[in-house]
Amino acid sequence: MNELREILASNNQKMKKILVTGGAGYIGSHTVIALAEAGYEPILIDNLVKSSKNIVTNLEKYLGRKLAFYQIDCNDKAAMYQVFTQEKEIAGVIHFAAYREVGESAKKPLLYYTNNLNSLAVLLEVMEKQGCPLLVFSSSCTVYGQATQMPVTEQTPMQPAESVYGNSKQISEEMIHDYVRSLSFVTEQTPDFRAIILRYFNPIASHPQADLSMGYPNDLIRMLVATAAGEREKLIVFGNDYPTYDGTCIRDYLHVMDLAEAHVKSLDYLIQQPTHEYWVRTFNIGTGKGNSVLEMIRTFEQATGQSLPYEIGQRRIGDVAEVYANTDQAQKVLGWKAKYDLATSLQHSWQWQLRKQQKGTT
Ligand SMILES: NC(=O)c1ccc[n+]([C@@H]2O[C@H](COP(=O)([O-])OP(=O)(O)OC[C@H]3O[C@@H](n4cnc5c(N)ncnc54)[C@H](O)[C@@H]3O)[C@@H](O)[C@H]2O)c1
Repeated sequence: MNELREILASNNQKMKKILVTGGAGYIGSHTVIALAEAGYEPILIDNLVKSSKNIVTNLEKYLGRKLAFYQIDCNDKAAMYQVFTQEKEIAGVIHFAAYREVGESAKKPLLYYTNNLNSLAVLLEVMEKQGCPLLVFSSSCTVYGQATQMPVTEQTPMQPAESVYGNSKQISEEMIHDYVRSLSFVTEQTPDFRAIILRYFNPIASHPQADLSMGYPNDLIRMLVATAAGEREKLIVFGNDYPTYDGTCIRDYLHVMDLAEAHVKSLDYLIQQPTHEYWVRTFNIGTGKGNSVLEMIRTFEQATGQSLPYEIGQRRIGDVAEVYANTDQAQKVLGWKAKYDLATSLQHSWQWQLRKQQKGTT
């Protein structure tokens, strides 16, 4: 399957260079695989503050070739220019680089605003000066806050952000819209800039073969597999008094490789559109199904045969009761739909944990 895609891609001579900021992170590294297998040439940038060089090495091992990797910070404008100058002809950018921990964002708001907003402003400026017209931006379902209707569509009004992190994503989206609006004031020639904002729901799991990360230790999926493996005594379910069918929070969990594929489809779409246009389009990227935390536990137990001790704890600040996606637009416009079901995603998550134990890493 992968071989076929590579042949098709090389026949189309599609080896377009795509800059992947945050390329050593969880979603970024999985997307690097999807891009390479679709025939794109990923160029990675990461400051490695939340990831490690090993991920780049493991990507190279899996893909069987060297990757262009720059350990720089996206806020460093001179370094960003340097990458564009050195690589030449970067067709588009996927901007993953950001900090994304809700709890940390409450403690360090200035760090979050500086990193998540300034890096985007720097990127847009450098892209403009370097004539790079295509952007895919990582947004999040957190921008919806607690929506009143489920599932949420891209038109569902945003509620005030529940966290500093969520606010940084709302403002980032506005920044992209403001930037595109500003292009209408350019008179000399028609500007060329097209952006896709992807609002991710809850990515879980990991690539079934490549040795990559599976998010942070305090992400639900990491706590879940660590508990099943006996590394944690029990899983704490944060509240069972939400207005949902079993009282626990409902989220839309999607396999990270499905999410990675959504970036490939977004780039394919951006590249196919007429040039000398400027616009922003927004898509929900989820499975379209909501699952409660208790359903996650039950499905995990059935899918892996492992038992998962849990205890009901206090609600966490910043958690909304329920959010899941209507993904009709992504299907209709981008031709993207999640392929993995929850049981398979949970099996892959458990396999990641077993591989980690075999290696003796934490
Ligand atoms: N994981 C999720 O549940 C989720 C959900 C919705 C949206 N997102 C968004 O997706 C993107 C990727 O998330 P992730 O889960 O892969 O996080 P991650 O922390 O694993 O990856 C982000 C990467 O960006 C790097 N980085 C951060 N700031 C940087 C900077 N200024 N310059 C260079 N590198 C920088 C980090 O070192 C890290 O490797 C983020 O923008 C995040 O907000 C994530």
